Amino acid sequence: MLNIGLLGAGRIGNVHARAISAHSGSRLVAVSDVTAENANKLAAEFGAKTQSSDEIIADPTIDAVLIATSTDTHSDLMEAATAAGKAVLCEKPVDLSLERAQACQRAVAKTGMPVMIGFNRRFDPSFGALKAALDAGEIGKAELLSITSFDPAPPPVSYIKVSGGLFRDMMIHDFDMANFIMGDAPVSISAVGSSVVDAAIGAAGDVDTAVVTLSYADGRIAVIKNSRRAVYGYDQRVELLGSEGLLQAQNMLENTVVKSTSSGVTGAKPTYFFLERYMPAYIAEWSAFVEAVTTRSPMPVTLDDGVTALAMAEAATRSARTGAPVKLSEYC
Ligand SMILES: NC(=O)c1ccc[n+]([C@@H]2O[C@H](COP(=O)([O-])OP(=O)(O)OC[C@H]3O[C@@H](n4cnc5c(N)ncnc54)[C@H](O)[C@@H]3O)[C@@H](O)[C@H]2O)c1
Repeated sequence: MLNIGLLGAGRIGNVHARAISAHSGSRLVAVSDVTAENANKLAAEFGAKTQSSDEIIADPTIDAVLIATSTDTHSDLMEAATAAGKAVLCEKPVDLSLERAQACQRAVAKTGMPVMIGFNRRFDPSFGALKAALDAGEIGKAELLSITSFDPAPPPVSYIKVSGGLFRDMMIHDFDMANFIMGDAPVSISAVGSSVVDAAIGAAGDVDTAVVTLSYADGRIAVIKNSRRAVYGYDQRVELLGSEGLLQAQNMLENTVVKSTSSGVTGAKPTYFFLERYMPAYIAEWSAFVEAVTTRSPMPVTLDDGVTALAMAEAATRSARTGAPVKLSEYC
């Protein structure tokens, strides 16, 4: 039984508290949040105690910490937790700054403690099945990957301002998904972005709509499309063309009813957002973390994976600004 401390009791902290408590191999013992009300509420719901992040990290009875705090605290907390001998699952992205993330990577490596980054989509049953089919050779050699990732509605501009921008905050999941499926990082990244959904997002210096092309050393190509607004719901699809066929992971729908009448054929919308779509993935992600810690196996998603995805986000941000392709080797 692993004793777990949860740092950060916001939106995603609530999701993780459920996964930790539901798992037979882990127990949520302490929760921290700089907003005491958030920590108290979540701790009370799960029968845990409320402590500061420092107290949780220093507590010798806690085996592992889950970092679900705001992005700008991730590197500091990861370094402190691993230095104190804790295994860590940290939410994406590793940091807002690639330099800071790389410094964290070096510091964590010195401790030898295991760290997993929360790229939960790798644990989505459909994306996992697509990857397994590719690895089993069912469509031959991968050639062209297409990832569609549209949110139902943009977040408030106050969030956009501290998010690090669409490429670091949102597309980072898709960069990692491309790395997961292709089994490799690209050599070159080209990005186009604009703010067609909300002019206020553009005024805040960010984009809300973007397309990125990833080019691989052996000629494979991946295309990622992001939008902060899809009026029909959370659109999360992956399509992979191989030398001997095509794999498609479709959206999860609110229900499976299809209505066919003389006026046409209609069906339900995709599930609303990430909490609805990815709950099974968050639970599977937590199980994979517990399994890796208890069996002392390698983490299924590493800090290196997190830093690579952040380097890709940095390259895409620059490419969107300059209009020129960027070589990933300039960043890592
Ligand atoms: N993997 C995913 O699908 C996913 C989804 C949402 C958010 N995230 C990531 O999770 C992180 C949190 O996002 P959120 O949407 O839950 O944000 P949020 O603002 O709802 O929650 C963050 C919480 O952390 C607390 N906090 C900040 N600094 C702290 C510190 N030093 N110690 C303790 N608590 C602290 C805040 O008070 C807040 O309650 C972000 O890095 C985000 O990118 C990942």
